[in-house]
Amino acid sequence: MSAKRRILVTSALPYANGSIHIGHMVEYIQTDIWARYQRLRGHDCRYFCADDAHGTPIMLKARELGTTPEALIEHYSAEHQRDFGGFLIGFDNYYSTHSTENRECAELIYERLRDNGHIVTRTIEQAYDEQAGLFLPDRFIKGRCPRCGAADQYGDSCEACGATYSPNELIDAVSVLSGEAPVTRSSEHLFFRLADFGELLREWTRGGHLQREIANKLDEWFEAGLQDWDISRDAPYWGFEIPDAPGKYFYVWLDAPIGYMASHKNWCAHHGEDFAAAWEPDSDTELYHFIGKDIAYFHTLFWPAMLHGAGFRMPDGVFCHGFLTVDGQKMSKSRGTFIRARTYLDHLDPEYLRYYFAAKLGPGVDDLDLNLDDFIQRVNADLVGKLVNIASRCAGFITKQFNGRLAAELVEPELYGDFVAAGERVAAAYEGRDFARAMREIMDLADRANAWIAERKPWEFAREEGREAEVQAVCSQGLNLFRVLIGYLKPVLPQTAARAEAFLQCEPLDWQRLEQPLLDHEIAKFKPLLTRIERSTIDAMLESARADLQPTGSGADDAAQADAAPPGGEPIADEITIDDFTRVDLRVARITAAEAVKGADKLLKLTLDLGSETRTVFAGIRAAYRPEELEGRLTVMVANLAPRKMRFGTSEGMVLAAGDGDEIAILSPDSGAQPGQRIR
Ligand code: 2FM
Ligand code: ZN
Repeated sequence: MSAKRRILVTSALPYANGSIHIGHMVEYIQTDIWARYQRLRGHDCRYFCADDAHGTPIMLKARELGTTPEALIEHYSAEHQRDFGGFLIGFDNYYSTHSTENRECAELIYERLRDNGHIVTRTIEQAYDEQAGLFLPDRFIKGRCPRCGAADQYGDSCEACGATYSPNELIDAVSVLSGEAPVTRSSEHLFFRLADFGELLREWTRGGHLQREIANKLDEWFEAGLQDWDISRDAPYWGFEIPDAPGKYFYVWLDAPIGYMASHKNWCAHHGEDFAAAWEPDSDTELYHFIGKDIAYFHTLFWPAMLHGAGFRMPDGVFCHGFLTVDGQKMSKSRGTFIRARTYLDHLDPEYLRYYFAAKLGPGVDDLDLNLDDFIQRVNADLVGKLVNIASRCAGFITKQFNGRLAAELVEPELYGDFVAAGERVAAAYEGRDFARAMREIMDLADRANAWIAERKPWEFAREEGREAEVQAVCSQGLNLFRVLIGYLKPVLPQTAARAEAFLQCEPLDWQRLEQPLLDHEIAKFKPLLTRIERSTIDAMLESARADLQPTGSGADDAAQADAAPPGGEPIADEITIDDFTRVDLRVARITAAEAVKGADKLLKLTLDLGSETRTVFAGIRAAYRPEELEGRLTVMVANLAPRKMRFGTSEGMVLAAGDGDEIAILSPDSGAQPGQRIR
């Protein structure tokens, strides 16, 4: 094994104004697997991330919700960390770009770039919304495409014909904030002279730090010429004010990647580690960034140039991945395939998705498809059918017939040796981010282990007198092969690996420990390590994903940034008249029966007595109530809501409740109300 390496890895920082969805998870799972793999090889690998907490969309979303940007980013930071934790993402530190360390690092980098002559000032003209009182980012302006005439296109590009342009070229442009036509205003901006670093970046690109596809893309960008980059924004802006330019703020994309440093710096301060040494130009600490291919420009041009220009080291690698599709198509709210991390976790084990992504992730930038039928098939066949099967076939005999004791030697040490030797191939695949190849190698070994056991059929002679040693030998060999496989899968399945370690009563698995088999050793009773996925669980998740849908705020947020409101922060809906209100027929109802709905974790089926009739209503309140505590209670229902056909039956109305998620409170009238009475 090679000498101990010091490695820093990062994943892109998610914006602090939207929920994490399974598309995001490709990157965090990919990075986490790689970081865990490095640690299991004995390296000192640290994984850093943070919330990307600045910018106009966050400022406006906070305003829209009647809250402060600080409260908004705190809400999302907690939510993101819960979701990442749910997917077993093992950050060493999860921080925020809105932090003291980030301000210090951003100011330092800016001042050094300025002092080295890489910052210039220019006056530019920009679209300004007079009603909203701010300069409009391109995505906040809509109009007709200047090339093809398509309506309702953003200020930077046309979704219909793919053209890119500047917002002042849009026809009949309006601000998405006020609906008014923007005016043109000029203002002084600060620019980073990227072209100063042209030669350096060309050389760096050829230095093996990038995937081939990305290096080719960079050649195109060099060809097109490196433009100055506008790093300032005018007030009002949510970010860090620029030290020598009052009223001007660092553009969110300037301090976002600096957030990697800030997260590391914050961690070093708490762990007595040397922050400065890792960022010196000749540092022997390796630095790798995992990102989506859409943000390659920022990470392969601006970021290395900023680092170098400010006297810091450059990254050793920037690894891009493609986008996630679900059943072959872009994730879509209307198809119910826009699946939030939390929705997935409410229904399914995180390790299923970790394994599936691993099985499909190569070292390139290709998009990756989550085909739901293939997902079920692959997880059930590989993890349950092949992997866990080895242990479950062998464990019972060892427990029942040998008091849980494994044989004192291996009956086929060469086979075990083959499995250990394969560890180098598996390691090389992980190292090169070819997780698909690593999974294929491991599953080929699992096939070999299963075939070896099946040839010997210990179950056929388990009860025969005189053949006990043979049974113990076959099952001990089988369990040792299983141990190697679960060791190789530990970066992907850390939880199952921990359960397997408990079952085998062995030291935490890593590559080195696998070289020695477990012999003359007592194991614990076997408990199922992973269960099969049922199609009904997937359907229930899709149903929840559909039910999760919420309208998307200002309209300037893209799908990835829209989403959940902080508790209590929902804006009051548009005004209605008394006539609008009386069209809703609210009635007192008694809950006469309540029961759980099979295959829908969130729903309870309620039978409601309305005095003159009985209704069935499916209510998403299971997280907050046990069925028996509802029976006999009075509540309030919408009695004239059109019936809605669901997978489990038809819902004939709606029960009123406050809150969402786990904190739901159904409404009840005071005593004295009678079932069927109208509420006005
Ligand atoms: O594209 C995004 O979601 C950005 N928030 C990523 C920032 S990565 C890094 F530069 F901070
Ligand atoms: Zn167009």
